Amino acid sequence: MSGASDAAGRLDWISRPAGPLRGTLTVPGDKSVSHRALMLAALAEGDSRISGFLEGEDTRATAAVFAQLGVSIETPAPGERLVHGVGLHGLRRADRPLDCGNAGTGMRLLAGLLAGQAFDSTLVGDESLSRRPMRRVTEPLARMGARIDTREGLPPLQIHGGQRLRGIRYELPVASAQVKSALLLAGLYAEGDTEILEPHPTRDYTERMLVAFGWPVEFAPGRARLGGGHALRATDVQVPADFSSAAFFLVAASLVPGSDLLLRAVGLNPRRTGLLQALRLMGADIEVLDERHSGGEPVADLRVRHAPLHGIELPEALVPDMIDEFPALFVAAAAAHGTTVIRGAAELRVKESDRIASMAAGLRALGIQVEETPDGAAIAGGTLDSGTVEGHGDHRVAMSFAVAGLLARGGVRIQDCSNVATSFPGFMELANGCGFALARA
Ligand code: S3P
Repeated sequence: MSGASDAAGRLDWISRPAGPLRGTLTVPGDKSVSHRALMLAALAEGDSRISGFLEGEDTRATAAVFAQLGVSIETPAPGERLVHGVGLHGLRRADRPLDCGNAGTGMRLLAGLLAGQAFDSTLVGDESLSRRPMRRVTEPLARMGARIDTREGLPPLQIHGGQRLRGIRYELPVASAQVKSALLLAGLYAEGDTEILEPHPTRDYTERMLVAFGWPVEFAPGRARLGGGHALRATDVQVPADFSSAAFFLVAASLVPGSDLLLRAVGLNPRRTGLLQALRLMGADIEVLDERHSGGEPVADLRVRHAPLHGIELPEALVPDMIDEFPALFVAAAAAHGTTVIRGAAELRVKESDRIASMAAGLRALGIQVEETPDGAAIAGGTLDSGTVEGHGDHRVAMSFAVAGLLARGGVRIQDCSNVATSFPGFMELANGCGFALARA
């Protein structure tokens, strides 16, 4: 990486305007589904094959955690895992802390799963993960009988095994699929039923996948309930392409004149596609083609062509369904005609970075007027200038500014892009293959 990163290992990129974006591409596998597939396959009886597995740093960290817990996982080919499940009670104590890397999903779901084991575990993460709130999982887990110590609500998590867990009925104070999933995974080990009620429905991959592995779960948008005392049976999982990774191309092709991109086999779970609706409200031209099911999930090809976008007041109901897509939406809003107003999105402040602050600061550095509020922003669309922005070690912030660079005459330098591979290995190559001009600085 000579010349590409400084002494601290920070990697900078420069993204410059290029011609229209064209071609057909398949973005990597879904991060949420890949994490869950590994976890359930590890706890199942028998061998499960996962295809389309995300070869990202986040999901590889989760695979390494299960290897430390005594699960044998083979990689027959890139994007494939063969997991030799050890059964619900077959995990072994690890002799070192378990490193979740940058992955909030990994740490929070593992907290629930490990709370039900007979042995102690310690979960640690990188600098960004070590700043993320964990009380949202440890408090309700404690109500189930778990014992987890934190550093004032932050990682590391010290999980004391050998506790008797009991099911609870819990109303989530914030809509969070990670918290819901942590409690459901603890519920596998609990006496009685665990029932979760959500203020807004969140992604239901854990529920769907538990059912696919043979565990009875009652669920509907906004609620899920399961009981302990069953077994997980091995099954094969086909992971769809990640809508959140497709999002950067949906925005980029919408904004760059003459663009016409086809994104193949993108997962369209309705709890993930809020950005599609938001972009259409802004005037985007996105067609959903060949809708089908793959591995129990709706998938389709998405054709996106350039169209002039205009600002909107984002309907708050869309917020939970596009929670990871806000950095991309900020860029769409910055290049749209008129103002876009976002409200009800305070959760963005506790993601891999404070995404409201990260995006507002970066867009301002590119000459866009952004007014920040505690739970959102008002972004006045305009002409993007060239400039230098900070990626904050946040994969989605870095990729969003790579999209912004397509529109800024003179380009955008993005500092600290080293975490892009957590969710999107090969982003630069795929982006350049369809017409970006993205390079290491
Ligand atoms: C995820 C849930 C979301 C999302 C994250 C992945 C998951 O987090 O932001 O990238 O896989 O359950 P919250 O549930 O905390 O909002």
